[in-house]
Parts: sequence; C-alpha cells; structure tokens
Amino acid sequence: MSEQKIYKGLAGVVADYTGVSKVMPESNSLTYRGYPVQELARYCSFEEVAYLLWNGELPTSDELRRFSVREKALRHIDRGLIDLVQSMPLSCHPMDVLRSAVSYIGAQDPEAYTKDSDHIRRTSLELMAKLPTIVALDIRRRRGEGYKEPSTKMGFSENFLYMVFGDGEDSPIHNRADIEAFDKSLILYAEHSFNASTFTARVITSTMSDTYSAVCGAIGALKGPLHGGANEAVMHQMIEAGEPENAEKYILDKLANKELVMGFGHRVYKKGDSRVPTMEAAFRELAEAHDGQKWVEMYEIMAKTMYENTSIKIMPNLDFPSGPAYHLLGFEVQFFTPIFVMSRITGWTAHIIEQNENNSLIRPLSAYNGHDERSVPAKSID
Ligand code: COA
Repeated sequence: MSEQKIYKGLAGVVADYTGVSKVMPESNSLTYRGYPVQELARYCSFEEVAYLLWNGELPTSDELRRFSVREKALRHIDRGLIDLVQSMPLSCHPMDVLRSAVSYIGAQDPEAYTKDSDHIRRTSLELMAKLPTIVALDIRRRRGEGYKEPSTKMGFSENFLYMVFGDGEDSPIHNRADIEAFDKSLILYAEHSFNASTFTARVITSTMSDTYSAVCGAIGALKGPLHGGANEAVMHQMIEAGEPENAEKYILDKLANKELVMGFGHRVYKKGDSRVPTMEAAFRELAEAHDGQKWVEMYEIMAKTMYENTSIKIMPNLDFPSGPAYHLLGFEVQFFTPIFVMSRITGWTAHIIEQNENNSLIRPLSAYNGHDERSVPAKSID
C-alpha cells in the first residue's frame, strides 16, 4: 500500500485563497469581506449582505435602493416554472424541487456559459430573487394552496414570509421581530468559506461549466444531513425527544449507541461556532414571543449534555438554534434546508465569480489501494 499522506475528507487542506469570508476558529469569529458577521446581522439587511458578498463593499443607500428595485423586479416566475414545481411528486424532498427549478432557469439563459462576472452577478441576483418564490410555491402546493404572487414592495424576508403565510392576522409579516429574526438567520447562513457545498460549486466552476450547474451541484451537497440537512435533522431529534425531561437521556442514548447528534460539532470550529450566539439570541426571542419555552429548555439540556459527556466537549453549530427557530416561525421541517439555500445562494455565487476570475481546474490525486495489476483471464478474451 502507498505511503502517501492521505487528507481524509480534505481535513486541514488549504485548497486556495478566498477574499469572500474568513473563518477564524482560534478566536471563534467569522468575517464577510472583512466585516464581523455579528455586526452584519445586527446592523444590516440580508439584501445589503448579498450586495457585499458579490461586490466586495457594502452598498451606499442609493446603491441599495437600486439593487432592491432590481431584486424585486426579478421575483416573478413564469408559467412554465410554476407548472414544473406543481408537477414534481409530493413525495420528493423540496431540495429536489429547488435543484430542478434552478436547472430550468439555467436552460433558459442563452449566456449560461459566460465567464463575465457582471453577467454572473445578474444571474445570482435573479436566483436570489426567484428562489423564495419557488420555495413558497412548493410549501403552498403541499398544503393544498395555490401560487401567491410575490410582492414588489416588501423587503426580501418580509416578502417570503408573506408568500408562505399570507397577510392574515396570524402572519409573521405583522411582527417586526419575526421578520428580523428570519433576516438574521439568512445573514448567518449566507457564507462560510470552503464548506462542502461551496467547494462543490467551485469544483464544478473550475471545469468551466456554467453557474446553474454549479448551483445545482451545491444544492445536492447542501441537502446531506452532515451539511445543510442538519437543521432539519435537529428538529426531528427535538420532536422525537418530545419533552425537555427526556432530552438528557435522549442525548446520552445516542452517544452510547455511537450515533451522531445532529446540530453539534464542526469540521473547522472545535470550540464553538461563531454564528451560534447571534442565532441563539434570535431563537430565544422567538420562543418568548411564540410560547416556545419548551424548545429552549430542550436546547439547553441537549447542549449541556453534549458538552459534559463528550471528551472533546462538542458544542452546537448554527443548525442547532436555527432548526427550532424556523419551527417557531411556522415552517414545515422539510423546508428548513431550502431556506438555507435561499441564503447560501449569495455565498455560492460570490465563490463562483471568484473561482472564474482566477481559475485552475480542481483535481486532487488519489492513492490506489485496489487489486495488484493483473491480466484479463484468457476465457474472457475469447
Ligand atoms: N455527535 C456525536 N459525535 C460527534 C459529533 C456529533 N455531532 N461530532 C463529532 N463527533 C465525534 C466524532 O464521531 C469523532 O469521534 P471519534 O473520534 O470516536 O471518531 C469525534 O467526535 C471528533 O470528531 P471531529 O473530528 O471533530 O468531527 P469531523 O470534523 O470529522 O466532523 C461534522 C464534523 C460536522 C461532520 C460532525 O461534527 C457531524 O457529523 N456533526 C453532526 C452533523 C451536523 O450537525 N452537521 C452540520 C455541520 S455545520
């Protein structure tokens, strides 16, 4: 067997430079284009953060106004796309619907293969604008409800909540705190350097393939429960545990059975995830407003039990508070990862632009550990 050093899972490998974001596990911090993510979540809207990721600078008020006008104008989806979403099996995961929808949008772009950064920025804005309309349509059809046209006046998060929940008196659009908590979650999910889905997008881009193919691949990578799918798995765990009094035993049993506890641990952060405190605060506020104290208690017991019963003191990642936060906002669990896509599209496409601007085909080596070289038996040659 070869003596080559293997970096299983590419752990610890620095594959390239990026100027999009910096993950600093030693200080438990994260910056987008140099700005701490906590400050962005506190002072900016998701639209401003998208602009920042794509353009490298925060927008002036005039730039933001023009950017928002363009985003709002791109929210509509055509009849063909509505029919495509409606025709997808109800048994499939909503991530499959999104992947197919992005493919459909890409098939309509005659310039899909261009490497022009301005065109890719336009494509990215179109995807950012249309994904919420597609996700909302999928949520509604599974509830037996019809398509709701996007608003051309509301902000990004408010419009999505409006398309999903309408404007009745129970709708979160009447509650500024709900809209802000949702917007914060999108900012925190937007970008995280060379995570699995972003790296997938960069690998696909590196072959000089098109943006839509890179995004479809990234959606596939994000779907997995070790990555974006974890926010759904977190909520399934909490629902399965049922009540706070069962939470400790629930975690201890999982650890005893050597099962993964979803929403805990991280490939890069080993002393806590930089995004958790901001999301945890938003989750606590939502719980306060929506009678969700039970989920907070469960959250605390599970986090404490994991910390105290793992030798490396495993802590929650962003998916742990965002799962129950989305539940409190009223979303069905299977839509938690599609919501993640609505946000991470901004980071993916910022990396696609960066990869294109300084491309080198991504193609690692492998060490062979299969059968020794041998000849095909004579009877097969006959
Ligand atoms: N539950 C139980 N055990 C865990 C764990 C978890 N969530 N995360 C890590 N561990 C264990 C590992 O199995 C490993 O045990 P071992 O030494 O007996 O093999 C040990 O802790 C060290 O793991 P580590 O090297 O820190 O993990 P990793 O970098 O290989 O994996 C993840 C990182 C994210 C894949 C892993 O933590 C995980 O699967 N978490 C759950 C899924 C999740 O929440 N994903 C979203 C990530 S943002």
